[in-house]
Amino acid sequence: MRKVLAILGSPRKGGNSETLAVSVLAGASSNGASTDTIRLQGMDLSGCIDCRKCWSRGSPCVIPDDMGKVHEKINWSDTIVFASPLYWYTWSALMKPVWDRFLPFLHDDAKWDLKGKKAILVATAGDDKPDAFEGISFSFKTSCELLGMDQTGTLLAYGVYEAGDASKGDWLARAEKLGRTL
Ligand SMILES: Cc1cc2nc3c(=O)[nH]c(=O)nc-3n(C[C@H](O)[C@H](O)[C@H](O)COP(=O)(O)O)c2cc1C
Repeated sequence: MRKVLAILGSPRKGGNSETLAVSVLAGASSNGASTDTIRLQGMDLSGCIDCRKCWSRGSPCVIPDDMGKVHEKINWSDTIVFASPLYWYTWSALMKPVWDRFLPFLHDDAKWDLKGKKAILVATAGDDKPDAFEGISFSFKTSCELLGMDQTGTLLAYGVYEAGDASKGDWLARAEKLGRTL
């Protein structure tokens, strides 16, 4: 059974990126996938400190914070939905440490890694033009390539600023359709 994890990178509970990610999961679930979410808001997550001690204590990272819980769920999944609001044309501050702390998965002695996992980008922006996503899309594409993840889809919802805006137009339908392909 396909295992799809949505990482929720907005501080807003029930906000736009979460709403769309949940619809992606609903679509995936209707297609027989097993789904899970992890909400980053409220977790203790630091950025990478570049100590170069990845895997030295058995786990991917030596920093004793909540990233171990994120890594556990990522290890369980075969598809990861990265759901982030666009903040200053890139990842939210909650999602950025998740990417920073993927450094262990480039390590030669990695005990497990992200190769072959499917990756989906769900991003939301107040701007009303799709080119607002150029920065986050480039980051997503090149980082997935480095880590060996397959970019399976993107949903870049623009013109959604207030919480609830993602329910307008056809964004929800598009999210569920994307989920059904998983
Ligand atoms: C700190 C901050 C920075 C933002 N930066 C951008 C931005 O660079 N471009 C943009 O289009 N919208 C920006 N927005 C608007 C959010 O991306 C938009 O409201 C989004 O739908 C929020 O998603 P959420 O409900 O999942 O948090 C910003 C919002 C905040 C709070």
